[in-house]
Amino acid sequence: MAKLWGGRFRKSTDKKVDDFNSSIRFDKRMYKQDIKGSIAHATMLGKQGIIPQADADKIVSELENILSDIEAGKVEFLIDAEDIHMNIEKLLTDRIGDAGKRLHTGRSRNDQVALDVRMYLMDETDEILEMLVHTMQVFTDLAKENTDTIMPGYTHLQKAQPITFAHHAMAYYEMFKRDYQRLCDCKERTNVMPLGSGALAGTTYPLDRELVRDMLGFSEITMNSLDGVSDRDFVLELASCLSIIMMHTSRFSEELILWSSNEFSFVEMDDAFSTGSSIMPQKKNPDVAELIRGKAGRVYGNLMGLLTMMKGIPLAYNKDMQEDKEQIFDSIDTVKLCLPVFCDMISTMKINKNNMYEGAKGGFTNATDAADYLVKKGLPFRDAHSVIGNMVFYCIEHNKAIEDLTMEEMQSFSDIIEDDIYDAVSMETCVNDRNVIGGPAKEMTEKAIKKAEAFINECKE
Ligand code: ARG
Repeated sequence: MAKLWGGRFRKSTDKKVDDFNSSIRFDKRMYKQDIKGSIAHATMLGKQGIIPQADADKIVSELENILSDIEAGKVEFLIDAEDIHMNIEKLLTDRIGDAGKRLHTGRSRNDQVALDVRMYLMDETDEILEMLVHTMQVFTDLAKENTDTIMPGYTHLQKAQPITFAHHAMAYYEMFKRDYQRLCDCKERTNVMPLGSGALAGTTYPLDRELVRDMLGFSEITMNSLDGVSDRDFVLELASCLSIIMMHTSRFSEELILWSSNEFSFVEMDDAFSTGSSIMPQKKNPDVAELIRGKAGRVYGNLMGLLTMMKGIPLAYNKDMQEDKEQIFDSIDTVKLCLPVFCDMISTMKINKNNMYEGAKGGFTNATDAADYLVKKGLPFRDAHSVIGNMVFYCIEHNKAIEDLTMEEMQSFSDIIEDDIYDAVSMETCVNDRNVIGGPAKEMTEKAIKKAEAFINECKE
């Protein structure tokens, strides 16, 4: 097949090079954006008198036909035509001849691909934003049902202080809220229109870049032609946002894997979200959570791959940059695959409230509160810390919890201890006295949930 750029060549491309060079296999998914961009470009060329208006009209209407033919599965893309841009241009030219050959006036594939990738990523970003809203909703709903579900909070994976499962769930709400905001922020920097940058040095044609920007709904125009074709920061930023989303889903997945173990038994995955073993009949494995945790790795890998691909590229466009697509597409596909199953796995799992409560009661999670009790009675905190440290040591030796000690045992550690200590170290008091803004007390959690619901509603508007 004759190449669109074949004039300067006397030999045809080696078959292996055709296969090697071609990106149609993976960039065909940008067909809609490519056509939309070309329609805007052609319309502007006609308005500016750069090409005859009749040709512009022909181009626009045939591009619309090509779009519906692609969507009807009637178009076969050619490896020889290299990429989505030249495949569509070739289809157009085959169908309308000379008018089609005028489409690429004042444009290069370098600014064309920059445009298509930006538009494609913004469309995908919108879908992921919607998924994140749902994810925030899932955690908020989980919190709503568990404001009284006391569980141990951990540091170093050692029991630390009692919290509620609602508080734990709302920590994830905060993470996914930041993910949402980060993605919006990233989209703003993607929302810049690069057409008019040409191959690297702009163009001599009187293009109306503002008109193209408005037709395509971009908010800004790139301000340097070299940067316009060689900037892929927006791809890196998105890859980074997606990595952080996967990090969050992976952390909670890891917790669910731990918590669904026999040793914890804090949660039980629904049968529909678990798998069995081919040999061990008793097994019910949290494969979904494990796969999400595992898939975080490939999304991080894509980020690393993209950063490394960009690091040594001199200005402006270089073919290395074609490698951006498979990696960012894979990150997008992975996140879109994980988030819905992550959400459904969470909303169907069973919470073993009683085991969580028993877990909180073991491991002296109320030791800080016991020390605080002494502080409120006038003892300096360092002394109180030491008194309760001794008490815990005694409890370990006698296999008792702090609240199991008799008053006599209590007072052997400090004579300022009175009967009200039992209430002060109960799990309920430990949680509900932590009534600082951002704390686990029921009152604070309910406020946090209200705020979250307002934010979620704002996102839905
Ligand atoms: N398929 C190419 C890419 O993905 C399009 C731009 C090619 N430009 C060029 N001058 N070779 O980056």
